Parts: sequence; C-alpha cells; structure tokens
Amino acid sequence: MLVAPSVLSADFGNLQRDVESICEAGCDLVHVDVMDGHFVPNLTIGPVVVSAIAACATKPLDIHLMVENNTFFVELFAPLKPEYISFHIEEEKHPHRLIQKIRSLGIKPAIVLNPHTPPESIEYLLGDLDMVLLMSVNPGFGGQSFIESVIPKAMKLSEMRNRINPNCLIEVDGGVSDKNIHMLKDAGVDIVVAGSYVFNHANKKEAIKSLQI
Ligand code: DX5
Ligand code: ZN
Repeated sequence: MLVAPSVLSADFGNLQRDVESICEAGCDLVHVDVMDGHFVPNLTIGPVVVSAIAACATKPLDIHLMVENNTFFVELFAPLKPEYISFHIEEEKHPHRLIQKIRSLGIKPAIVLNPHTPPESIEYLLGDLDMVLLMSVNPGFGGQSFIESVIPKAMKLSEMRNRINPNCLIEVDGGVSDKNIHMLKDAGVDIVVAGSYVFNHANKKEAIKSLQI
C-alpha cells in the first residue's frame, strides 16, 4: 500500500517544515487538495502555494482538484509537473477529452468519484486512466469520518480494473487510519490518502509505516 499524506492537515504557518517532515518520514506521494469554494464549500490553495510545496517536496505530487472549470486548473498546475492530476467526474462534461489533455502534458490522469457516484460511470474511461480516486468522505474538509460503503465500491472497481486495465491504480481519500487500512487493502486499494491521521500522530514515520501494509 502506498501512502499519500494530505497537506491540507499541515500547519500552514510551517508548511516547508511539514512537507519536508512527511517526505523524510517515508511517504510515497504528497497529496495536494485544491478547492475553489464553488465545487466544494471550502477554499484552499493555488499555484503560488503549490509551487512552494513542489519546491520542498522530495516525493511526487498528487494534485486532487475539487473545482469547477477543471481545464483551467489543469493548465495552471501542469508547469509544476505533478505525478498525478485527478478531477471529479461529477464536474466534467468531457472527461475523455480532459484525460487526453492531462496525458499530453506529461502527467498521469486520474478521475475522482464522490461517495454516491457508481464505479460503472467510468467503465468506458478506465482504459485511459492511470488512477481512480474513491472519496470515502464528502470532499471539502479533512478530519471527517470514513464512509464504509467505499469498501464494496472498491471491490467492484477492483474487479473492473483487473478486467479492463490492470495498470490503473485505486486510491481512497478521507478518514483513512490504521482502523480501516486492512479492509482497504483486502478490497484491492493501492494508495491511501491520509491527512489528520498522519499529521495528528506524535510520530509521522510510525503513522505512515502503519498504513504501508
Ligand atoms: C477532503 C480531501 C482529503 C482530506 C483527507 O476533501 O480530499 O484529502 O484532506 O483528510 P483526512 O485524512 O483527515 O480525512
Ligand atoms: Zn484529497
């Protein structure tokens, strides 16, 4: 299991220190939550702050867009060369076109599904994706509780992925901790995002290790 700590739970007054600390603690990716105050009822960071994160991160960036007008934000963040850019299927009229655009910029494309969105909705896109991100909370805030219905959903998606595109990874985001990591692993999940669990832990290295099962 790969671990992508969410910078949303970092201390923004000490952002460089916190980004360096998760990278030194052995995380696999750095998860960056971009919210626009329209698609979700919260507003986070733009390219100025994300480029500061990119400058001190020694692990690849995993940018999670929670925005309207995805194409605009893809173009804004592409120069930072993240490993992944993921966008919500609920907010995109032309997901296939946007996947091709992200790939043409040298970035791995990923799609995010909100808790209510069925995995079947992306069946005909799966072959073109490098990752699918399943939300296990309603997007917008860190520190919420894990929605258990993501487990059967991940199992269903994992079966689809094995059939259509075995190289496509499955990521889960929201309320992840040592309490649900084994269930997620058994369901076929490859990457977890963890914000409050990692940043509230007294020892970030131990927290990350406990999820890398
Ligand atoms: C929620 C974000 C998550 C969140 C995870 O909209 O996408 O990445 O910060 O935080 P925790 O692990 O605290 O649920
Ligand atoms: Zn996220």
